[in-house]
Amino acid sequence: MEERLIKKEEINMTISYKGSSFQKLQHFLRKLYCYLRWRPVFFHFGRNSVLEKPRGVVKPAAISIGDNVLIKDGARLEAVGNFDGKAPLMIIGNDTMIQFDFHCGAALAVTIGSNVVIGQGVWITDHDHDYAYPILSVRQNSKTLKCSPVVIEDGAYIGEGSVILRGVRIGKRSVIGANAVVTKDVPPFTIVVGVPARVIKNIEQVSQSDKTK
Ligand SMILES: CC(C)(COP(=O)(O)OP(=O)(O)OC[C@H]1O[C@@H](n2cnc3c(N)ncnc32)[C@H](O)[C@@H]1OP(=O)(O)O)[C@@H](O)C(=O)NCCC(=O)NCCS
Repeated sequence: MEERLIKKEEINMTISYKGSSFQKLQHFLRKLYCYLRWRPVFFHFGRNSVLEKPRGVVKPAAISIGDNVLIKDGARLEAVGNFDGKAPLMIIGNDTMIQFDFHCGAALAVTIGSNVVIGQGVWITDHDHDYAYPILSVRQNSKTLKCSPVVIEDGAYIGEGSVILRGVRIGKRSVIGANAVVTKDVPPFTIVVGVPARVIKNIEQVSQSDKTK
């Protein structure tokens, strides 16, 4: 019998998925439900966007969600800062896709661009408790926050389980490896991994090495 050897090599595949008419109808109804359910309460809730069974939404009037956004089950979208009604504290751009159990906390400003992919269990925060009081513990002083805006630029890819801490800007098309903890800015087109996240390469290097294969 002929033995089939499977080599350990990279295979790039494009997955195209065409749902049945019933599934398309289900999808349409889900979008319609979300539009009617969420539009009146959010600062902005774009067309064709889906927010599936969130675990918690705090101050939706301070959150703006673009068009064609998909946020899967279990999200915690928490705008905890002072909202003046003029500009949202949390912005999620068009065509962004966010996997299960996303947690985002905005006390000042969290801006997520367009076409961003966020893996399961990602945590993004623009604030931290001020722990440096000699007399009061964080519990006793829990309302004093240190805040610094977070920006995730267009086309970034945030791997599963990553944590993005306050004050970080993640550049356009950058990649954050699974389970990274990002404490500093990541330049555009750059791939970072680890705790704390460190640069391993950039997109230019990746495409150069592809050319030499
Ligand atoms: C970061 C990532 C994109 C890099 O992929 P890649 O370009 O194929 O990288 P490589 O496999 O060539 O790894 C390069 C180096 O980084 C290390 N590395 C890769 N991913 C890592 C991670 N998440 N954490 C720590 N180190 C990592 C590798 O071990 C390797 O180290 P070495 O040079 O010492 O051997 C990928 O590993 C990753 O984490 N993807 C996220 C997957 C995910 O969350 N998917 C959900 C989709 S919604």
